[in-house]
Amino acid sequence: TSPDFPPFEYIDNKGNIVGIDIDMMKILSNKIGCDMEIVSIDFNGLIPALINNQIDVIASGMTITEERAKVVAFTKPYWSADQAIIIRKDANINPQSLNDLVNLRVGVQSGTTAEQMISEFVNSTGKNINMVSYQSYVLAIQDLLAGRLDAVVVDSPVANMFVKQYNVKISNIITTNESYGLAVRKDNTELLNKLNKALDELLNSDEWQQILRKYLG
Ligand code: ARG
Repeated sequence: TSPDFPPFEYIDNKGNIVGIDIDMMKILSNKIGCDMEIVSIDFNGLIPALINNQIDVIASGMTITEERAKVVAFTKPYWSADQAIIIRKDANINPQSLNDLVNLRVGVQSGTTAEQMISEFVNSTGKNINMVSYQSYVLAIQDLLAGRLDAVVVDSPVANMFVKQYNVKISNIITTNESYGLAVRKDNTELLNKLNKALDELLNSDEWQQILRKYLG
């Protein structure tokens, strides 16, 4: 996991990696009778790490995309998200769309769907957005607060958390209809099937509601 993405995975004030994905993986691994260890890897290194056998599952708020599904196998979806534009609370801009981000400095995390969406916009329109790709979303937010960025584009559920934690606000949501899934190696059908079954049970349980209450209030 890439622990810079609250409430799904982040580092708490004791230095532990916590979040919805982490609690979810604890329960799923229990259900399927496996030990679990959390490994922290930058988001753009997760798929390579999975393919190279350094990890067995990606649990990182990862959007199920056609492109990724060519190289990894996704479980059924467990969450949905859109993309939010975040600005400083005191900003004198109010970007509503990608077009409103033209010529602004915009932070994203490297390897994410936000990065891909902005690149595609720039390539298809020939317009300029000064996009900066960070290893971690937390670093992007810090640069936004420091005035080195005008905006950050990040998944909407995470944007809602950043708004609670930092002096930032959401200027608009871009509807992208993303769904998160866990990813395993393509040839690991056994694990995929077990995860899907355990996920089905979990998503319909009180335990899941408790996790959501714990992290979302
Ligand atoms: N949902 C987006 C994607 O799949 C962003 C995920 C970033 N996750 C993280 N743990 N930093 O590209």
